[in-house]
Amino acid sequence: MEQIGMFPLFYFPEIGSAWIMGITGTIHILASHTSVGAALLFAFLAHKAYKEDRPELYEYMKKYGMFLLIFSYVVGSITGPGIWYTATAASPRGISALIHNFVWVWATEWVFFVFEVVGVFALVYFINKIDRKTHLKLTYAFALASVGTLFLIIGIISFMMWPGNDAFYQTGSVSDAFFGLTTFPHLFLRIGFMIMMSGVIGLIIATSLSDKELKNELIRKMGITSFIGGFITVICFMWYMTTLPDNAKLLLEMYMPDIMTTKLILVVIFSLYFGIALLKPNFINRPIAVVMLFVVAIFGLWPGEKLRESIRKPYVVGQYVYSNQIMGREVPGKNIKNEVDIIEKNGLLKVNPWIPDRLKIITDKNRLEVGELLTKIACSNCHSLEITGKYRPLFEKMNGWDKDTIKSYMQFSLATGAVPYMPKISLPEEEFDAMATWIESQFNKEK
Ligand code: HEC
Repeated sequence: MEQIGMFPLFYFPEIGSAWIMGITGTIHILASHTSVGAALLFAFLAHKAYKEDRPELYEYMKKYGMFLLIFSYVVGSITGPGIWYTATAASPRGISALIHNFVWVWATEWVFFVFEVVGVFALVYFINKIDRKTHLKLTYAFALASVGTLFLIIGIISFMMWPGNDAFYQTGSVSDAFFGLTTFPHLFLRIGFMIMMSGVIGLIIATSLSDKELKNELIRKMGITSFIGGFITVICFMWYMTTLPDNAKLLLEMYMPDIMTTKLILVVIFSLYFGIALLKPNFINRPIAVVMLFVVAIFGLWPGEKLRESIRKPYVVGQYVYSNQIMGREVPGKNIKNEVDIIEKNGLLKVNPWIPDRLKIITDKNRLEVGELLTKIACSNCHSLEITGKYRPLFEKMNGWDKDTIKSYMQFSLATGAVPYMPKISLPEEEFDAMATWIESQFNKEK
């Protein structure tokens, strides 16, 4: 019997493995984005310090650099590998698809990253120890390496949304995978956000300066920097939205009312904050600056990342790996078969090598257990299965449904692929029956 290349299931109750991924990712992005943004800001400050002979700017860069080393590089270096671990557990076939497309891109990115890490240490350490011109060149090199890492990673994560051109599915080539429709808007969107972040962090550092005049000057500068970054972010976000695939546009429409209100509130809060920094720098103090950093992370970054993840549904990578790890279409260029058809023909119990033997054939005794396992495999990547679950909880979606309704929903909506944001899951009648039996039993048990 033909088997499909599934991995053992990583099941995370209540919040789902996707949120674990999201939380790790958000912390990592906060660190990595401040670092790339700061690299650009340093190039600007070092240029100014050199051209206008302003030694006090070096002191500021030194303070900023220490913060970067301790915050961005320590937190970034821990959560970076953390993403690999979580992604491998949460979506082994998603990460495998990325590796099979981009292994050399990632290797190259790593070289840039090493350069970046050595660069930031050298940059901070050599302030006032080497001549300023050489230091200036070092800051330029650091900025280039940082943008280099960003560019390479953006090609990869844009591919997660979609390759952007159909040629990829035939050729499987890395350039077809890398240069999609969303790649450049996504790149500039991130650069805008990073510039904004460099200003937000810059404001925290500026509030610790003792020279009042310099402090106010830098608060103003950081206000303008954040403003420009924020503006680029908003414009590029709109551009990015026009380059999304159809399923993402559909989901975006569903979530739009919510997104618009929160985004508008954020834009107003941030414009006010940056405006005050610009016009009344005396008002900005350290507690406010620190709180605003958390506001960006919790209300700006987390929903942004969650949105990117949500509108990608039903896929996790490239519009061919479904979030539930099943290959949803043929990719001849990568020798990938459409597994939906294989499952439809044989049933998931027979083709998934990780089903224990005692559950391969459904009996009255094991029906509930089989139903639970199948539901976990087919649905838990996108829905929490606990009544108290937080992540798109299945029981909220099926509130009040009896077994027959659940079963026919699966047979007529999921099995036909009629719901564009959910994977096509076509199982034999008895497997759907087991799932519906288990799902219904959970309603009764916990209510
Ligand atoms: C790839 C992710 C994904 C998988 C896997 C998935 N769903 Fe969904 N499901 C969604 C999304 C996205 C929505 C709707 C939007 C929202 O609430 O965010 C949804 C909505 C639903 C709804 C609400 C009705 C509707 O049509 O919108 C039901 C019922 C549902 N899912 C059942 C299931 C069942 C049962 C399974 C497993 C067999 C499953 N889903 C697997 C992503 C998924």
